[in-house]
Amino acid sequence: MKEKIFIEGGKRLSGSIPISGAKNSCLTLMPASLLSEGALTLNNVPNLSDVDTMKELLESLGCVVCHQKINKTLHLKQSDEPLLLADYEIVKKMRASILVLGPLLARFGQAVVALPGGCAIGARPVNLHLMALEALGASFSIENGYVKGNVAKTLKGSKINFPFESVGATANTIMAAVLAKGTSELVNVAREPEIVDLCKCLKSMGCKIEGEGERTIIIEGVDNLKEATHNVVMDRIELGTFLIAGAISNSDLELTGGNITMLENFVNKLYEVGIEVCQSESNIRVRRIDSASINCTNVLTEPFPGFPTDLQAQMMALLSLADGVSSIEEQIFENRFMHVPELIRMGANIEISGRKATISGVDRLRGAQVKATDLRASVSLVLAALAAEGQTEIDKIHHIDRGYEDIIKKLADCGAQIKRY
Ligand code: EPZ
Repeated sequence: MKEKIFIEGGKRLSGSIPISGAKNSCLTLMPASLLSEGALTLNNVPNLSDVDTMKELLESLGCVVCHQKINKTLHLKQSDEPLLLADYEIVKKMRASILVLGPLLARFGQAVVALPGGCAIGARPVNLHLMALEALGASFSIENGYVKGNVAKTLKGSKINFPFESVGATANTIMAAVLAKGTSELVNVAREPEIVDLCKCLKSMGCKIEGEGERTIIIEGVDNLKEATHNVVMDRIELGTFLIAGAISNSDLELTGGNITMLENFVNKLYEVGIEVCQSESNIRVRRIDSASINCTNVLTEPFPGFPTDLQAQMMALLSLADGVSSIEEQIFENRFMHVPELIRMGANIEISGRKATISGVDRLRGAQVKATDLRASVSLVLAALAAEGQTEIDKIHHIDRGYEDIIKKLADCGAQIKRY
């Protein structure tokens, strides 16, 4: 019998929640281990099913992976005789699997990787990944749902202009360019903190990179990489999610191990709707400025440093209780409103027109039976349920295990009436 989450809403929370390492950084750092002859040790690794899937994928490529979950540590060492096939049975579970393509081509000159296909939030093609790797000298054919990549001799440094920012294509290209002969200039790249974290780790492995976090990155290729240890950056999306948990439940919550500088745009939006977020050392406190109200606002999702699309669903849950009419425009993914019909089941008043949602605030939400459709949609239902009157029952919760470590325990430790069975 598949598990569900049950939440009795309307409870104020109090206490402290630790922020984990970032899923979206870990899923990029793990494939980087394929580049090196030395071992890579990652600390502050979150216990998530996506991390387990990436481990399974790397092991299928001949990588020796030791995951000490208690210590949140991963030791990774790629064998010198790798298998170069990323099988569809694993890739279909997680799109980030495409991030092995660049490292395999750069180090071994060949790779066969299943095409990830679309997902609940959009078509999500990989054309920019292939365009950039071709510019470095790889050649590709697509056969039977697999990308077959080849490099004649070695990859060669090149100037690459991305038509728009893509986190995944930027990461794949950086990981290929670090072993390419000569200099690469990557223009209009993604500036997400997870890209900066990847570059920090690669530099500790001996790479020569400049400009991470800016629009242009310069990479001087090197011949080989060395053993290294890296601490995974904190999860800014988990942090943002719990900031909304505090706001929507009208609680005074403390979050530890986080840093709001990576969420500036989002925290400014929270302030606009009447939510105060204070950072001291590594503790963050969140509470409503006026405990009786949430203001309405307009949100536009954008690449970093803009408002993160991965916090859009959570923000919508909050704005469904605001005084007045808000709007959210989703600019990154074409189909990221799957949570809307479920929030409407809980009494929210939301209309969708194309990529724009108009949210007319209601006085209260009510518990209901709802289902999760993707990772961030599932957590927006948990947040709405914390504020709702009565019990909410959330189905298809495997989505949440992909990106939130111990969320039930973290919320229950702060007094939430939340159970999973
Ligand atoms: C990363 O996905 C994150 N995933 C996503 O988080 C996040 O939503 C996204 O970046 C945007 O911030 C991981 O890091 C594992 P993109 P990614 O390439 O790399 C289009 C979550 O909830 N595009 O920046 O796949 C694409 O379709 C997940 O944790 C192309 O058209 O995102 C999208 O519309 C969900 N061609 C846009 O660009 C390409 O070759 C941005 O995608 C590549 C992307």
